[in-house]
Amino acid sequence: MNTIILSTKENSVDEIANRAAYILRSGGLVVFPTETVYGVGADAFNINAVNKIFDIKKRAKDNPLIFHIFSLDMLNTIAEITPLAKKLIKHFWPGPLTLILKSKIERKFTFGLDTIAVRMPDNLIALKIVEKLRKPVVAPSANISGKPSSTDFEHVLQDFHGKVDCIVNGGGTVYGIESTVIDISENKAILLRPGALSIEDIENLDIKVALADKWELKKRSPGTRYRHYAPDKPLILFENQSDLKSMLDLYNNAKIGYMGTYKLMFDLDKKIIFRNLEEYGRMLFSTLRYFDSVDVDIIIAQLPENKGIGRAIRDRLIRASGIDR
Ligand code: TXA
Ligand code: MG
Repeated sequence: MNTIILSTKENSVDEIANRAAYILRSGGLVVFPTETVYGVGADAFNINAVNKIFDIKKRAKDNPLIFHIFSLDMLNTIAEITPLAKKLIKHFWPGPLTLILKSKIERKFTFGLDTIAVRMPDNLIALKIVEKLRKPVVAPSANISGKPSSTDFEHVLQDFHGKVDCIVNGGGTVYGIESTVIDISENKAILLRPGALSIEDIENLDIKVALADKWELKKRSPGTRYRHYAPDKPLILFENQSDLKSMLDLYNNAKIGYMGTYKLMFDLDKKIIFRNLEEYGRMLFSTLRYFDSVDVDIIIAQLPENKGIGRAIRDRLIRASGIDR
């Protein structure tokens, strides 16, 4: 398949959005940037196009997609907007928060569920594409299922060149980590996926966010049933400097790729040191991809504390390492 490449370097946002919306309207797939990660999008009401996303991603059929919307009017046509939803929307949209709400549309469009995942991305290209299509766009992260999500144009090319109708190059994404998913369909807030928006920010509004236990989570959030974000090389995690030291002793014959915020006093084959957790989050997936492409045998990564953006980084690393099984 010929993949059309559109870039903000050569085209205006309006031109890009017009062409992308045209392709979506004809049943095609378009990869576009959001503020979190790149998404591979289809017209949410074109079942054939939506099925194509599952095929090219090799995604499990029971793992539903997020509806990307551009206005509250559009939201109102697909989901029930409760007072709790209104409050969260007022503070955090557009932005990296996905809400699970009661659905108003036929189940054949909601993967058989009576709930629906919705979000309004904080990215001009993404918003304009949805606006011009005048319908919601369903879009999972633009990576082959199980692999690290795409946070830059090059990653999308690696995974999807020749497999989608169009890729929009919008440069690196702002957060580098997916949206936070909160289920509020039963009028209390339950965290289904930690993400770029921290729980603390939500709780500052006097909204208590419950953490679902492991089995509850697998039931409510199909995405958590599968291994995710994994690099090809073994990924080994540590929590503190003394663990790191023991680990390096243990693997002293291997070529090590290190990632974390701790500065290292000694030399390793490859090390990527982040200035802070925001940078760690932004570069997490690209660093995993980078280590897969260079001459290291294993990846050793620091697990940050379970708070703020650290919670999402931990979650992705634990899933990527496979120790969650
Ligand atoms: O930042 C993001 O959210 C990115 C960008 C492209 O918007 N999208 C993304 O989509 O991460 P995806 O498909 O990789 O993750 C969607 C998550 C999955 O864990 C899925 O199980 C969950 O949302 N989900 C979707 N609909 C749901 C529903 N009705 N109930 C519970 N979980 C749902
Ligand atoms: Mg994903």
